[in-house]
Amino acid sequence: MWNALKATAEVGKHTSILDLFAQDPGRAEAFSLHALDLLFDYSKTQIDDTARNVLIDLAKAAGVEARREAMFTGEKINETEGRAVLHTALRNLDGDAVLVDGQDVMPGVLDTLVRMGALADEVRGSGFTDVVNIGIGGSDLGPAMAYRALAPYCDGPRCHFVSNVDAADIADTLRGCDPEKTLFIVASKTFTTIETMTNARTARAWLQDNGVSTDGRFFALSSNAEAAGDWGIPSTRVLGFEDWVGGRYSLWGPIGLSLMIAIGPDGFKAFLRGGQSMDRHFRAAALHENMPVLLALVGLWHNQGLGQTTRAVLPYDNRLSRLPAYLQQLEMESNGKSVAMDGTAVPVHTGPVVWGEPGTNGQHAFYQLIHQGTRVVPCEFMVAAEGHEADLRHHHDLLIANCLAQSEALMRGRSLDEARAIMAAKGLTGDELDRQARHRVFPGNRPSTTLMMPKLTPEVLGQIIALYEHRVFVEGVILGINSFDQWGVELGKELATSLGPLVSGDVPAGDKDASTQALLGYVKRYS
Ligand code: F6P
Repeated sequence: MWNALKATAEVGKHTSILDLFAQDPGRAEAFSLHALDLLFDYSKTQIDDTARNVLIDLAKAAGVEARREAMFTGEKINETEGRAVLHTALRNLDGDAVLVDGQDVMPGVLDTLVRMGALADEVRGSGFTDVVNIGIGGSDLGPAMAYRALAPYCDGPRCHFVSNVDAADIADTLRGCDPEKTLFIVASKTFTTIETMTNARTARAWLQDNGVSTDGRFFALSSNAEAAGDWGIPSTRVLGFEDWVGGRYSLWGPIGLSLMIAIGPDGFKAFLRGGQSMDRHFRAAALHENMPVLLALVGLWHNQGLGQTTRAVLPYDNRLSRLPAYLQQLEMESNGKSVAMDGTAVPVHTGPVVWGEPGTNGQHAFYQLIHQGTRVVPCEFMVAAEGHEADLRHHHDLLIANCLAQSEALMRGRSLDEARAIMAAKGLTGDELDRQARHRVFPGNRPSTTLMMPKLTPEVLGQIIALYEHRVFVEGVILGINSFDQWGVELGKELATSLGPLVSGDVPAGDKDASTQALLGYVKRYS
């Protein structure tokens, strides 16, 4: 299955993207896709018709269509945990039946959405000035990312997001809050995560130390209602969800409560509508006209085909500053695996290393490497046609110009002759001209994609997040892995638990390796 991709990529490696444009005046349109409000342009890559056909065949051979249907219809495709994968049910606003073990999950989903709306309205009308979401991973990154992204739509209390077990996180947050007017949301699917439970206890102690009753100050968002009850949160303030919602896919349900409090239930529903419309597109569109499928295939082309194993996510939108971190978890926790569903080793690299920063800031930091470094980093640009600051339109025009300039520069590059001409015009000659010109050469032919949106509204954000979720799903199916477990985080957790007493107590660290013992010794000297 991979041989055809590798053989095509071997040719693609030597293809000039500029030549592809020269040979085909219709390339920009032929290698772009409009779906819903979005435009996905992948024409500035080395993918040609042959490569695209090979990629589509790869998706077909891997059974993407059947697997997609299995996901939407509640089959237990998370096989290592024996669970269905139904975050799509959380945005199935029309309530069409979705069966798990013969039971329709939709009445429960819609009932929870109504409860979320009532609680959000209660908080929005209650005089609380600050809401602190305590959670980590998927119980933090989703709402934290979306809260920032949708700042122009936030008209509720201020929201804060505490995730790190580092006391600095909660201490710095609470310093700016009034205990009388602050509400806490403990967001944890399992309600056992050590960071979250530690922060929640600290929040409770903060209220008590300030003489404020903890009654009515905590919500729990969890699949483990029993543990939330044991912790002292009454069932009326617990919003539950099922094990078929993975942590990194949970923003659409109760884990989105802070977002709903911030933008209101109607805004949150618009976000869900956006996700639902992308679900419909993904489920119905043919593979070659399917945006999540094409986005996945472009990723596979670069990573598994061309061996370009990192991916930069570069939103030209300051409010999407947490999107790279959000997508990092989505992609790397989902597809950072080595073992296929059947227990065999995956024969190719799996998920890429995802990283990024908003433009234009990144341009003044790491773009040097992207333009002139020795590695090729496929870049994923993203920008809205319109910003929210109508009276500052000139800022937005500059933002767009910079975004387009970067993809053009990566593709076009600058030859030695061009660099020499520039340096000669500055008056350089001879050896000095040669030497200086070489530093100013850009290899070019570096691939990028651009995702364009009209404006970053709640509905458009919903489309984008669902687009990336389905992209990760398609990549996972083609790689033959389970994108919905995360066993790779367990070992570190176990060892942290065993190291805790060694750090804080006098327990001898004799069974630890010499490096760990020495590091513990250093801590002991200073603590
Ligand atoms: O350790 C990884 C992880 O399980 C993520 O998958 C999850 O999003 C995060 O921890 C938080 O888990 P929980 O919501 O159960 O606290």
